[in-house]
Amino acid sequence: MNFINFTVCNINAMAGNITLTIIKPVAFSKNNAGRILSRISDAGFWIVAAKTMQLSSTEAKKFYEVHKDREFYNDLVEFMSSGPVLIVMLQKKNAVEDFRTLIGKTNPADAAEGTIRHDFGTSLRANAVHGSDSDENAIKECNFFFAEADRFYQPG
Ligand code: CMP
Repeated sequence: MNFINFTVCNINAMAGNITLTIIKPVAFSKNNAGRILSRISDAGFWIVAAKTMQLSSTEAKKFYEVHKDREFYNDLVEFMSSGPVLIVMLQKKNAVEDFRTLIGKTNPADAAEGTIRHDFGTSLRANAVHGSDSDENAIKECNFFFAEADRFYQPG
């Protein structure tokens, strides 16, 4: 049997081709993680790394630090640390933009039909999934959750 060799590569060389998603507490607790992941795979994204965990308040604060001055920051931190989540590092050409198209607008009420947030989100806070908003933040966010040795990029 032939096995595929996965090579370790520098994440900075992957800029433009990676993004990070978090399947948020409500979507996870409704057992929608599998259905959401299936949509993501069908859209051509490769799963580089994945794990379930419950964020501590400190971790959620740090992850969303960019929003620390926004009025919704405390609410967001409380929600994101309220239950388990599925965190997934994804690979695809033009990953950040294509993923944002797949998930739809931040507020599920504004998201187009057929997008993940439209179909699985219930409110601005419980909008089913997080998606990185830039290539720079995608790298930071992937480094926040995954060690280099735990990433398996798409071969070829
Ligand atoms: P996410 O992609 O995880 O990035 C930041 C999150 O903050 C966003 O999804 C929303 O869930 C949340 N958010 C953005 N704006 C608001 C808001 N006005 N009130 C509450 N939550 C918000």
